[in-house]
Amino acid sequence: MPTLKQLTVETLTHLAENGCERMAVDDEARGILRQWMLAARKAPSPRPSQSVARPGPSEEPEMSVEQKLAYLRQRAADWKPARRLGTLRDTMVFAVGNPHARLMLVGEAPGYEEERQGEPFVGPAGQLLTRILAAMGLKRSDVYISNVCKFRPSMGENQGTANRAPNPEELAACSPLIMAEIRAIQPECIVCLGGSSARGLLGTQQGVSALRGQWLECQGVPVRVTYHPSYLLRNEALSARRALWEDMLEVMRRLGMPVSEKQQNYFR
Ligand code: URA
Repeated sequence: MPTLKQLTVETLTHLAENGCERMAVDDEARGILRQWMLAARKAPSPRPSQSVARPGPSEEPEMSVEQKLAYLRQRAADWKPARRLGTLRDTMVFAVGNPHARLMLVGEAPGYEEERQGEPFVGPAGQLLTRILAAMGLKRSDVYISNVCKFRPSMGENQGTANRAPNPEELAACSPLIMAEIRAIQPECIVCLGGSSARGLLGTQQGVSALRGQWLECQGVPVRVTYHPSYLLRNEALSARRALWEDMLEVMRRLGMPVSEKQQNYFR
């Protein structure tokens, strides 16, 4: 069970990673932070299993990627910053795929089918994603697939199969987990699927159209932003399919994957 101190450290680490340099605190909070800081100066450094914050270099060899992910999955299941909001449903859906993947794909949040099956991207949008990966010559088990938000956003009692995108508070509450997953996997490249994913990973307010077509960065890892597969399910225009496919071709080139003439010309 994470302590208040661990959660505070994780939240502050996340804010710092997203460019926050100052924040207002009242006298009581300042006093508590000061006590923690003085105690930390005296105490030996914590073991990596006590925090999702970036482990120091000497701690790296102690945990395999699999162990780090197992630990994060356990932490996510009882992730207080998300639970406290009261706007997310109870079932935690973590990630799926290869812990040693070179490519990581990040969506926004699980939907009805993902919550039911306990796996990201298994509903209609996920099936399209699986087909896109196949067109790239990849299987789901070749890549690592996750979401910024680990819980299906709630729409009240009569939600049924309806889904909604996570709001900024929900993305912010969950984003320390995806940041820690990125540090554990250390992929060569990340694809953000949709605007919510880009907001959660890059802290940007810009939409997908403005972010596409360039390499961005998250924790030193190159990031490509593209349309969410569900957007393509709503918009079947060839131009939309081609746009997403061009982003994927760019990802393939970045990873040094061969691109056949047939692949080059899909959706033209
Ligand atoms: N949409 C997402 O963003 N993630 C999923 O896991 C499923 C649908």
